[in-house]
Amino acid sequence: MSPEIVMPPKAKAPVLVQTGLVALARVNSARHLRRHHGSAFSFRALTYGTFVVLSDPSEVRELVHNTAEFGRTDPNLGRILGPGSIFALSEEEHRNERKLLTPCFHGRRLHAHQDVITALTREAIARWPENEPFSVGEPLMELTFDIILRAVFGAEGRDFDELKVLLPRWMSFGQKLFALPIPNRPLFGLNPWERFQKGRDRYDVIIDRLIAAAQADPGLAERSDVLAIMVQSRYDDGSALSNSRIGDELLTLLEAGHETTASTLSWALERLVRHPEAVARLEQDLSAGRRDYLKATLAEVQRVRPVIDGLGRAAKVDGARVGRWSIPKDTIVVGSILLIHEDPEIYPEPHRFDPDRFLGAAVESTVWLPFGGGTRRCLGAAFAQLEMETILPLILDRFELIATSAPGEAWLSRGLTFGPKLGGRVTFRRRAEPLVDQAQQPTTD
Ligand code: HEM
Repeated sequence: MSPEIVMPPKAKAPVLVQTGLVALARVNSARHLRRHHGSAFSFRALTYGTFVVLSDPSEVRELVHNTAEFGRTDPNLGRILGPGSIFALSEEEHRNERKLLTPCFHGRRLHAHQDVITALTREAIARWPENEPFSVGEPLMELTFDIILRAVFGAEGRDFDELKVLLPRWMSFGQKLFALPIPNRPLFGLNPWERFQKGRDRYDVIIDRLIAAAQADPGLAERSDVLAIMVQSRYDDGSALSNSRIGDELLTLLEAGHETTASTLSWALERLVRHPEAVARLEQDLSAGRRDYLKATLAEVQRVRPVIDGLGRAAKVDGARVGRWSIPKDTIVVGSILLIHEDPEIYPEPHRFDPDRFLGAAVESTVWLPFGGGTRRCLGAAFAQLEMETILPLILDRFELIATSAPGEAWLSRGLTFGPKLGGRVTFRRRAEPLVDQAQQPTTD
């Protein structure tokens, strides 16, 4: 007998309208459906079928921990990032991969990246214009991209330059191909997947070269870049990562890590130019060598403008149980970060930007979810926090932010993340005196 199915209330609009709303107005549609149906609802999109959205924190917590009945949503990501990407792995393989990758972003190894982040940030912001409106989105994307090439790929010189030319174009082509089927016969040179594979071949040549150089490096054991750590790592059965697995994971870390961090920092500046009182307190704290208000500000930016709006999991079995619901197999269930962060019962006046909410208080992991939760929580969260807690003070150390009364920028979906529509438009004025003699060392614990 098939298990009983209990689905949350359905959105009523015609499927074509629902598909359009998901593609073009996801944030406002989610808010609207929450108001009409309560914390759980479902809707249909032609591209993905039926979705369930949950925004009760205890149900979302159950969703991300119930690995027996809910798993990863996108096996297709393996077509772009490679079959060994952690996004494409499930169950035991996923667990083993996390065990191997987690140490890359913790402790001594994490803090070893501080100098690279500082040097690249100083170099980048020295080129930013002053006294005129400037969109920080693209320059921040370039900065976080460069940081990953250096800190994660361990790339320098020719390898760095080649990856910098190849990866942005190849990966944006991959994003466009994402939804296309792979044809099972030749298309006389017109198969876009063949063109995509040529990009992968060029990428593999560079990765093989980087791995060979690392293996021949007498200082390998002291290196902290992720490629160097992967080359030396072993699974529990003693086996090493193959070159193509290393290539898949590096690509994954780049895709997961650079746009997310850059969009969060763009939102930070977008919010701060509209809240001069918060800037003043931030400046005061940084110049006194404190970091509490910085951490609170970043936590509040991530609450009020989470760059990833939901955590997707797919039901592995018919009747997969989460909270009050019993979900059919293959249905995607999304834990809504956005709706939890905007719940007035959890965060009074939720649309007000107020870093004081987090001052002197640890974030509560069931209701503060920018990095997700459960067994698939962001692997690079500590690295992202280190980057943000380094880059933002360096920007404020060099520039004053000119406050604006312009309305807040709208949310724009960039593919993977939501960023400010105008890229975070800011006017900087060069400080006569730096805010602090030397940017203080952040602590990320
Ligand atoms: C502010 C920046 C970032 C945000 C907001 C962010 C957010 C997220 C979210 C929401 C997830 C999904 C979690 C889930 O489904 O429960 C995720 C997964 C992941 N992130 Fe991040 N991320 C950021 C930066 C980074 C960085 C810098 C890296 C690495 C260099 C990284 C690597 C990963 C990886 C590998 C996963 C997949 C984990 C798994 O499936 O086990 N992220 N991230």
